[in-house]
Amino acid sequence: MSTYGTDGHEAALASVPGDVIARIEGLRAEIRGHDQRYYSDGDITVSDAEYDDLVRELRSLETRYPQTVTADSPTMRPGAALVTTFATVIHRTPMLSLDNAFNRDELAAWFDRLTRLTDEQLTFVGEPKLDGLACAVTYEHGRLTLAATRGDGVAGEDVTPNVLTIASLPHRLATADPPALVEVRGEISMTLATFAALNAKQDAEGKPRFVNPRNTAAGGLRQKDPALTAARGLDMVCYQLGAMVGGPELETHWETLQWMRSIGLPVNPTIERLDGLDAAVDFCERMQSGRHSLEYEIDGAVLKVDRLSTRARLGATSKAPRWAMAYKFPPEERTTLLRDILVGIGRTGRATPYAVLEPVFVGGVTVESATLHNESEVARKDVRPGDTVIVRRAGDVIPEVLGPVLAQRRPDSRPWEFPRECPACGHPLVRLPDEADTYCVNPGCEARVVQGLVFFAGRGAMDIEVLGEETAVQLVRQGLVADPADVYFLGAEQLAGLPLFGEKKIANLLDAIDRSRSRPLAKLLVGLGIRHVGPTAASALATELGSLDAIIDASPEALVTVDGIGSTIAQSLRAWFAEEPNQALIAKLRAAGLNLVGPARPDGHPGELPLRGRTLVLTGSLEAFTREQAQEAVELRGAKVTSGVSKKTSYVVAGESPGSKLAKAESLGIPVLDEAAFVRLLEEGPPA
Ligand code: IVH
Repeated sequence: MSTYGTDGHEAALASVPGDVIARIEGLRAEIRGHDQRYYSDGDITVSDAEYDDLVRELRSLETRYPQTVTADSPTMRPGAALVTTFATVIHRTPMLSLDNAFNRDELAAWFDRLTRLTDEQLTFVGEPKLDGLACAVTYEHGRLTLAATRGDGVAGEDVTPNVLTIASLPHRLATADPPALVEVRGEISMTLATFAALNAKQDAEGKPRFVNPRNTAAGGLRQKDPALTAARGLDMVCYQLGAMVGGPELETHWETLQWMRSIGLPVNPTIERLDGLDAAVDFCERMQSGRHSLEYEIDGAVLKVDRLSTRARLGATSKAPRWAMAYKFPPEERTTLLRDILVGIGRTGRATPYAVLEPVFVGGVTVESATLHNESEVARKDVRPGDTVIVRRAGDVIPEVLGPVLAQRRPDSRPWEFPRECPACGHPLVRLPDEADTYCVNPGCEARVVQGLVFFAGRGAMDIEVLGEETAVQLVRQGLVADPADVYFLGAEQLAGLPLFGEKKIANLLDAIDRSRSRPLAKLLVGLGIRHVGPTAASALATELGSLDAIIDASPEALVTVDGIGSTIAQSLRAWFAEEPNQALIAKLRAAGLNLVGPARPDGHPGELPLRGRTLVLTGSLEAFTREQAQEAVELRGAKVTSGVSKKTSYVVAGESPGSKLAKAESLGIPVLDEAAFVRLLEEGPPA
């Protein structure tokens, strides 16, 4: 009796040679026999490699003759009959690499060389350079029969069952008249959306995150169980014809890509035909500036000579074709050594782990350290001192340690453990249940005092220029300063003996401290570091309540009447002023002669603020104001400054070289003010 079931199936099987059917049945019986003895008796009756060979042969026959596949074939059992190695595939023609250019000059030199060699007006096709893995996929008579990784370029691995899980790649070409054989080459990668979804799932299951789309795609492609490959959701984009028997006459690469697309192959939509060097360079630059708006990661652009006959004349070196060039972007990811993980203590006592890195140039800057945020984040990434780690810095985003390169992990490494004691003061660290952050709760902790002082003296607060971290450390260590108010009682003679203090520095510091006594009340409020009280809230409080005493005395109900103050800020203020050490601090600041009253109303008398309830957006640079001054002037009059233009924006103030906000304002019909009109608005208020 045939194992293949009934009628239709029987008919389809008629096209399969009898010896193939016999072999398939023989293989299945043999594999089942080994499985049975292994699973029921624990006997290993065959070596892994021999077993793999049987499975691989069966799988390749089933791929070639899909009509022979049965539900009970050992290849169909999830988790069973898994190969542990992949078969080697010798490529029909070597899968070459690409030469690289890193700037316009190098592209121009390549272009000149090509022009000399061909004596032609060159047209190129520009393509994004996907950051994934190259793969060669063969279709015989329209059916996908083989997929191989690039390997060393000459020989790769047979990953056919895994590639068959890629949804964007057809198993059959969409043409009634397929070539006898066509081999297409392309890049296997993963979209950013798929990658993000995969990591969200890992998070939800408490599993470690995947590091980047490229490594995740690479790992996915080499899974022994195709079901695991399928779960990664890989994607493939075809960019090159490898070999063809039969098929249309094609003259250009552009035509080739269009034809590939027409028979259902996934071809990148972001390709362009480019005449000459300037257009080619422009394409590369546009790809670079737009790289983050694509759905997938790219690490460069590829330029290819369009005319196939010209390509043939140019030929290739042993490494790369002469007719193509990769324009490589500066890398946004690099690997480096994670020297150590240290914990920094902030002014609130928050203990933040950070990576100490072997300096690495990435995304245009040298990165030596990167925050690791909190304990769970370190555990999730499982980065350990001594690991080689991947560091990413993309655009203006702060540098990030993505994760370890596990293949390079030292065998003796152990997971990193969060310290139990504060590295600065030795007090036990506290992490409340359900909270991500760990704290040093010792208010006298040296690190906290130093950071509190640095914050108080910072640009956004009291702006005491000379008082940076180094100075703060000395003042605190020498016992001269225990809270920010102490700086106002320092004398030259106390500072004279300190190692880092020359006469000039002492004079500058004391002068800067003295000048800070008259800073606006809002700056002092910011400097106190009260939770949730940022510059906008501080400004509103100072302007509307008029003095520190009024703020201290205000009930929560009174506080929430202030524009922009909600119950969270109100409660935070009440709690802060209720604490005895904070009351003592205020008393000291008062004694030090600091300005504790709000700004005089711009119109000279109390009452309604002239711009109350208005929202302004600033774009471009103004002559008479820095950005901070303009914002302060606006807030002083009861209005808010926001960063984005919307229908709710009252005015857009456009200075020199305004950005896209101006166009947005115009399209929404929002009034646009030049600097003179802005000054009038400040002085006279809005027109009646
Ligand atoms: S063409 C003979 N086109 O870049 C030319 N390669 O650095 C073969 N790559 O191994 C490659 N996007 O994995 C070509 N649009 C593209 C590409 C691309 C990414 C990869 C490919 C290749 C590597 C060379």
